[in-house]
Amino acid sequence: MIKLAIVGYGKMGKEIESLMDPNKFELVGRYDIKNPVQNNLDVIPDVAIEFSTPTTVYNNLEFLASKGINIVCGTTGWYDKIRILKSIIEKYDTGFIYAGNFSIGVNLFLSMINNAVCILNKFSDYDIAIEEIHHNQKLDRPSATALKAAEIIIKSLDRKTGINKNGAVETASPELIDISSLRVGKAVGKHKVIIDGVSDSIILEHTAKSRRGFAEGALLAAEFIYDKKGFYKFEDEFKNLI
Ligand SMILES: NC(=O)c1ccc[n+]([C@@H]2O[C@H](COP(=O)([O-])OP(=O)(O)OC[C@H]3O[C@@H](n4cnc5c(N)ncnc54)[C@H](O)[C@@H]3O)[C@@H](O)[C@H]2O)c1
Repeated sequence: MIKLAIVGYGKMGKEIESLMDPNKFELVGRYDIKNPVQNNLDVIPDVAIEFSTPTTVYNNLEFLASKGINIVCGTTGWYDKIRILKSIIEKYDTGFIYAGNFSIGVNLFLSMINNAVCILNKFSDYDIAIEEIHHNQKLDRPSATALKAAEIIIKSLDRKTGINKNGAVETASPELIDISSLRVGKAVGKHKVIIDGVSDSIILEHTAKSRRGFAEGALLAAEFIYDKKGFYKFEDEFKNLI
């Protein structure tokens, strides 16, 4: 039985709790803005699943690691601190796994983008861009998944070398991938990769139907990390997890 704590009891925290298999997990703590984990940690969990906010995540991760707790981190918008966090995980000799998107479907989508882009090197008249739509409470833009898709494209498509985030560069440039972010209402999340040529266009699209897919992936990651040490990316372990 894995002792689990949920740090950040918002939409994702609640979804994770609702999907926990009671034969695998025991919930030993729920922490939120009103009862931060730093002041209220009564039972030390084997694994903490962190889904809070881009501004609070880093302090939570540092505190959890300092207590020797293994961590699944789904919160986005903190990746500028990734190197220092890695050194903290090493210092406390704990386990850490993170993803900008824990959904199994999104990870399949990213694999498909990789395959598609490798073929595109031979067809130079096709341009490529990314569009993403999320609910209007989302705090970061572009989404981590859109940035990941762009990273994959840059790695595999020779003619693209950088990103133009939300029109930062006004005039389209052939070596930049345009990413366009739209925030509206309660949209759960849609990512589109648009491949546009002279004769036709091809669109790869992933639409989340609910938060369930993210929560399932986060729980899968909790099972993975609970008896490990070290720093892992969900996408790198994806093939071993499914
Ligand atoms: N990686 C993924 O697969 C994935 C999927 C969905 C959302 N996300 C990300 O996860 C994060 C949370 O998403 P959400 O939809 O649950 O947001 P949410 O706004 O519903 O929940 C965030 C929760 O964090 C709490 N919080 C604030 N300060 C805190 C603190 N110091 N300690 C603990 N909790 C604190 C808030 O009170 C709130 O309940 C966001 O960064 C979002 O972009 C990632």
